[in-house]
Amino acid sequence: MIVDGSLPASIAQAARVLATGGLVAFPTETVYGLGADAGSDAAVAGIFAAKGRPSDHPLIVHVPDAQSAERFAASIPPLARRLMQAFWPGPLTLILPRRPDMAGAAAGGQSTVGLRCPAHPVAHALLLACAGATPPVHGLAAPSANRFGRVSPTTAAHVAAELSQDLLVLDGGATPVGIESAIVDCTRGPPVLLRPGTLSREAIEQACGERLRLPEEMAGDAPRASGTLESHYAPDAKVRLMDGRSLQAALDVLGEDAGTVAVYARAPVRTRVARLRRMPDDAVETARQLFAVLRDFDAAGVKLIWVEAPPATPEWEGVRDRLRRAAAS
Ligand code: TXA
Ligand code: MG
Repeated sequence: MIVDGSLPASIAQAARVLATGGLVAFPTETVYGLGADAGSDAAVAGIFAAKGRPSDHPLIVHVPDAQSAERFAASIPPLARRLMQAFWPGPLTLILPRRPDMAGAAAGGQSTVGLRCPAHPVAHALLLACAGATPPVHGLAAPSANRFGRVSPTTAAHVAAELSQDLLVLDGGATPVGIESAIVDCTRGPPVLLRPGTLSREAIEQACGERLRLPEEMAGDAPRASGTLESHYAPDAKVRLMDGRSLQAALDVLGEDAGTVAVYARAPVRTRVARLRRMPDDAVETARQLFAVLRDFDAAGVKLIWVEAPPATPEWEGVRDRLRRAAAS
């Protein structure tokens, strides 16, 4: 059931559902999340069931402010404090050592916890209402509100199309950022970028005063992160990345058979039959529309999605990452 997330009555209803162990989908500035009381193992089990996600994959815990992070984190290293100060509320998740008695199921049993303070007004109102509910809910465990392995939802309609009709969905319109938060692991000494988002690597490094490492640079086992699985964020159609010229050449070869092909490109592309969407020249705007474009192509029943590879510049890192994963399946 979709309700207007800007109405206080909707927020109150959602907080009641969450405080009694239920699930609610809500908008964040990145994508829609599927939330449950992070302090209730039973409520969190409902998320894994609804998503069809393995229960050892850790979820992000959403908090109303930086202070609330202390409830879940055993300690907050100075670099993490600097990142919170610079980017919270906002599209940045920090992996921190977990208080052993907090959010065990949400963290997938790991000794760490992913924490994020979202900037969306509906998410913020919901988190505040939850903190004031009886019994109080101090953090919302919430993965993206899609079935496991699928494209994240950026509208309430996307959520409703993919999850149960009975699920309460707070509608906050299309999410302004469009791809998931950047994830920085602060538990391994130097900061490690586990998942790029829309905050540039440079901005994150400037704020924390250290170079961001790649997961591959770190010795030992990488932490499990489903968002870091190769074939994640995948639509039904097969996605291929090409430069503009190869894309045109491939379309020319297909000719009239290009009817099952969809194209998402910045370069002007000529075809009479393929479905075309123009990719914006701007990375921010592309991130905002990317998942909806992939969903639209799927809904149109195309078999192939040919995407012009984005520029290899820093501001496109998050979009490149999601497209590469979509193409890996
Ligand atoms: O923008 C976002 O981050 C959205 C919105 C709803 O906040 N959430 C999201 O959640 O993308 P999800 O579950 O789809 O992706 C969370 C990622 C996963 O790759 C998960 O493995 C990783 O965060 N993660 C969470 N806790 C972790 C931990 N303790 N250690 C390592 N990775 C963790
Ligand atoms: Mg996800």
